[in-house]
Amino acid sequence: MHLITLDPWSEKDILETVEDSLNIKKYPEKYRHAVGGKSLCLLFQKTSTRTRCAGEIGITHLGGHAHYLDWRTTNFALADLSDEMRVLSAYVDIILARFLKHADLVEAAAAATVPIINGCCDKYHPTQALGDLMTIQEHLGRLEGVKLCFIGVHNNVCNSLIAAGMKVGIEVTVVAPEVNPAAVDKALWNAAARKGLYKVLDTGSINVGSALESVIAESDIVYTDTWVDMEFFTDPAFAEERERRLKKMMPYQLNTELLNGHECKIMHCLPAHHGYEISGELVNDERSIIFEQSENRLHSMKAILLRLLAHA
Ligand code: CP
Ligand code: NVA
Repeated sequence: MHLITLDPWSEKDILETVEDSLNIKKYPEKYRHAVGGKSLCLLFQKTSTRTRCAGEIGITHLGGHAHYLDWRTTNFALADLSDEMRVLSAYVDIILARFLKHADLVEAAAAATVPIINGCCDKYHPTQALGDLMTIQEHLGRLEGVKLCFIGVHNNVCNSLIAAGMKVGIEVTVVAPEVNPAAVDKALWNAAARKGLYKVLDTGSINVGSALESVIAESDIVYTDTWVDMEFFTDPAFAEERERRLKKMMPYQLNTELLNGHECKIMHCLPAHHGYEISGELVNDERSIIFEQSENRLHSMKAILLRLLAHA
């Protein structure tokens, strides 16, 4: 059992992982030796704060050991991907991989002989979505029937929210005038739409502000993420596109004025770019559950590790 996407995970898998995450948060001592010396390798092509720390610290809390590999310091870049994955599989019990390209991750998982966790690729971010379900359950006391709107650029985080929401009955409305090309997944969107759990609010021909107001008024949770994924932030080849997006997306910024009078919870997977997709004030607003959400990545990662190791 891998966690490359949430597709093969059943509703039961997901709900049990959320329940385990909440128990681990409440009774961390009970899990001190839960993995009995198992080793996790983190293989990262991209930067990370939360996912890396959740993996490294999480496995240590469970009585295991973590080994971090920055892709660029290994011979993965020189060699056949499948060969290197077979080698790594022989050294460790589980691998948390943050790859640039989803297709490479799929190839890596096919060659690995231990469970692989997708630590965020260009298409999906499943460990984020599982942590987010834990946070939603913790703060709203339920998942089924929760209404979440994602405002921003449709990306990897948005896809995994749709995939997770579809399994547990969260209604996801996406307000995104831009879609990252790598994140296009019509099969996922159509499957969620058929269940009535995914819709897109088209702001093309109407006033953006009033469209956002009406979707926010109906939402329990308002969620946003970066308008530019991390690998493009400092890429000179993306500079022009980044400027175009920042200009186009400004009317979609979550700020105090837009959320004035609304009772919704505010979520962001972080890192946040204050003054762009969200104002700094709102990150720290009393409706924000962003920092609980980021803490929960740790508890939830432990539940994911336990589940995959138990099935290995
Ligand atoms: N939310 C998240 O995955 O953060 P990092 O990129 O810092 O891991
Ligand atoms: N969409 C963001 C998620 C970061 C956790 C990115 O890929 O950079």
